[in-house]
Amino acid sequence: MKNFLFGKDIVSIDSLSKEHVELIFEKTREMAELVKKKDGDRRLEGKIITTAFFEPSTRTYSSFVAAAQRLGAGIIPLNGMTNTSVAKGESFEHTIKVLSRYSNCLVVRHPEPGKPAEAAGFVDIPVINAGDGINEHPTQGLFDTYTIRQYFGKIDGLTVVMVGDLKNGRTVHSLTKTLVKMGKLTLIYVAPGVLRMPNDVRNTVVEMGGRFDEVENLASVISLADVVYMTRVQKERFLDHTEYERLKDYYVLDKSLLHKVKKNALIMHPLPIAGEITSEVDSDSRAIYLTQELSNGLYLRMALLDLLLLQGRK
Ligand code: NCD
Repeated sequence: MKNFLFGKDIVSIDSLSKEHVELIFEKTREMAELVKKKDGDRRLEGKIITTAFFEPSTRTYSSFVAAAQRLGAGIIPLNGMTNTSVAKGESFEHTIKVLSRYSNCLVVRHPEPGKPAEAAGFVDIPVINAGDGINEHPTQGLFDTYTIRQYFGKIDGLTVVMVGDLKNGRTVHSLTKTLVKMGKLTLIYVAPGVLRMPNDVRNTVVEMGGRFDEVENLASVISLADVVYMTRVQKERFLDHTEYERLKDYYVLDKSLLHKVKKNALIMHPLPIAGEITSEVDSDSRAIYLTQELSNGLYLRMALLDLLLLQGRK
């Protein structure tokens, strides 16, 4: 397959075609094999990846760093910008331009929607969005879709139930967009009214020929799910602390609710969990948020670095 992703930015799922996603998935499979066989190789030797994370991160940050290193690239590891010139008042544009001079690829996380896309406009090297405020988290949406397809062998006909803060949670926006691009499925959005899935994402589902339902009661739909995708109520997006306190435990997946979930379903979560899944669920064989989901995140990020930075037919 031709590598039509060479030199591109990954700032939103919107700019990826189905063929792009297939190419990324094929490369992800190759990376999984590579890591299992020999931990990695040196194909990105001489390249430098900068992680410019203006917001906290554990998984996304460390998996990008690991992805770069497993392919032999060097890294400029910035996780939090308080020790950079950002603290001296440097503009976003200047910080991004400075970092781009020293690197071959920028991975940008930022609390404000649109900042990675803005960064991409400032520089010639590829920019990857590692989460921009309440907007998108494309790499998470990609590897979660990859994980679902790997397990079920298809997207068509599945029922995916997304639960929690669908308004502020960027992972469910990117996941929705990726899923409807890759197949015809049913989405069930479970959220309190104030945390509903945003209009533009719901519109995308309809435009792509997908179907969605919206309900408030998790217990009434959980038995329909092939995938239960739980999310955290996004504390940092709330201006009103009492509103957060009111909503934070709105949905809790515990053992009793788990009994209603299909035997061959998947329980997924982008992490971190902040009370919405009880720890007794962790060891259930359907719960893959501490296992396959994490490994696939690494493989997919390795795949993207390879595709964006190495030319040639893949
Ligand atoms: C998510 C994020 O940052 O959007 N975490 C992650 O990257 N895996 C989800 C969250 O913070 O709730």
